[in-house]
Amino acid sequence: MLKRIQLANIPTPLHRLNKLSELWESDIWIKRDDLTGSGLMGNKVRKLEYLLADASEKGADTVITAGGMQSNHCRAVAIACAQLGFKCRLLLRGNTPSDFDGNLMLDKLAGAQMHFITEEEYYSNLPSEFNRIAEEVRSEGGRAYMIPEGGSNAIGAWGYVEALRELRKQCFSSKIFPDRIICATGSGGTHAGLLMGALLENWDVEIDSVSVCYDHDETIRIVLEIIDSSIDLHKLDICVSRQDIKVIDGYIGEGYAKAGREVFDLITEVVRNEGIFVDPVYTGKAMLALKQETAKGNMKGTTLFWHTGGLFGLFPFRNELTG
Ligand SMILES: Cc1ncc(COP(=O)(O)O)c(C=O)c1O
Repeated sequence: MLKRIQLANIPTPLHRLNKLSELWESDIWIKRDDLTGSGLMGNKVRKLEYLLADASEKGADTVITAGGMQSNHCRAVAIACAQLGFKCRLLLRGNTPSDFDGNLMLDKLAGAQMHFITEEEYYSNLPSEFNRIAEEVRSEGGRAYMIPEGGSNAIGAWGYVEALRELRKQCFSSKIFPDRIICATGSGGTHAGLLMGALLENWDVEIDSVSVCYDHDETIRIVLEIIDSSIDLHKLDICVSRQDIKVIDGYIGEGYAKAGREVFDLITEVVRNEGIFVDPVYTGKAMLALKQETAKGNMKGTTLFWHTGGLFGLFPFRNELTG
């Protein structure tokens, strides 16, 4: 039984998107994990409830993690560490910025120590960068706990097994029967947890994720790797193969953390109709996939959009969004 520290405001609300359902001629519901907290908003907090409980059990005093410059995950780790009394070291991809905007500003305010590393170093040397920082922590007398990018491992993904159980209860008590759940996927832990949860609960709902970082095959590979290590760690009686992992491709656009006019227009359409913000890096692309795949007739019946947060990622795009 995994230990858990309560950080998230759960259960998060589940409700229908009435106006978008009408406009896009579909039946669309939303699970509001953008409301798991204020600073601690988004999907990462559900993973951190298990990861930071593990860090505490192992006697760590410093948490090390990594991500992109505007990583929502790193921001959530920085804030949760401040709340729980851990020191926090972030390995951030990119050159030292002149401007601390969006998530980066919150990392700084929360007191995280930031290490900026170039894209080349990040992609070729991340494990040794983790070890280098852990060694630094040790040499200062600290005890380090390392969290992988996105908190996506067998411990973090458990947060989304439990999240699926939470949703299932809500759906059954409100008599909502989604045909599919759709979410954005990056490091794969959210998709992996939801799929394992559905299998463990024997719930016949398809889990579709929209890849915003990696291509179709690589996304399936990383989701499967998390599921395989979860099966080992938690001794789960489920069996998952590549074919069971449904990834929707074609919405990365110009690349990870880059967005084009279609995404900006979609963000505006969603907020003006529903009062909900999706972001240009993750949830905006997933929502665009939902809209376009529905228009193509690929999403019949009831679709549940799992909002995974990302609000602070809007701010660095202020010119594109308001221009
Ligand atoms: C807002 C948001 N949505 C979705 C994701 C993707 O989740 P995962 O990394 O579990 O695939 C992330 C990951 O950083 C995120 O920040």
